[in-house]
Amino acid sequence: MPATLDALIQDHCNMGRLLGAFERQLQVFREAGKPDYELMQSALEYFLDYPDKIHHPKEDLVWARLVERDSAAVAGMGDLAVLHEELSALTHSIAYALKLVLQDASASRDWVGTSARNFLNAYRKHMEIEEALFFPLADKALSDADWREIDARIGSTEDPLFARRDELRFESLRKYIEDLDDLAEA
Ligand SMILES: [Fe+2]
Repeated sequence: MPATLDALIQDHCNMGRLLGAFERQLQVFREAGKPDYELMQSALEYFLDYPDKIHHPKEDLVWARLVERDSAAVAGMGDLAVLHEELSALTHSIAYALKLVLQDASASRDWVGTSARNFLNAYRKHMEIEEALFFPLADKALSDADWREIDARIGSTEDPLFARRDELRFESLRKYIEDLDDLAEA
């Protein structure tokens, strides 16, 4: 499998861990407890950063090349770039709802719950479809030269949460995810 595709799959695995961490805090929120709002905001900040700026644009390039190589295979799958915009809009929406609740305790908590659920479901479903359909098709249709060209167009910016341990802005989030992993292994 091309290294670029491996890296995209690794991103998904990381995002899945982060969605799980976010969901755990959402559960605390739902039960009317006090979640770690900073952590939830930090997770959303991450989704608006690396996935929106690097991961999705890279997939968009892969998608564009796949459409050129085998348009029949992807017919009916929709436009990936549009789906990525929808994910970004859902992320902005939950980030905004959370911000309002933090600013004004009387703001609708239901809105946070619904937006967060939509965000989680859409992200998970989207990654599932990409892994089941899009990635295998790209693996089959794209040449080594295609992958090299895609890599050259979007450089190897490191993931600020999962790869760059020196990135202090995500330090507590990183620690929380690692603690959850340890718990799961115990
Ligand atoms: Fe993806």
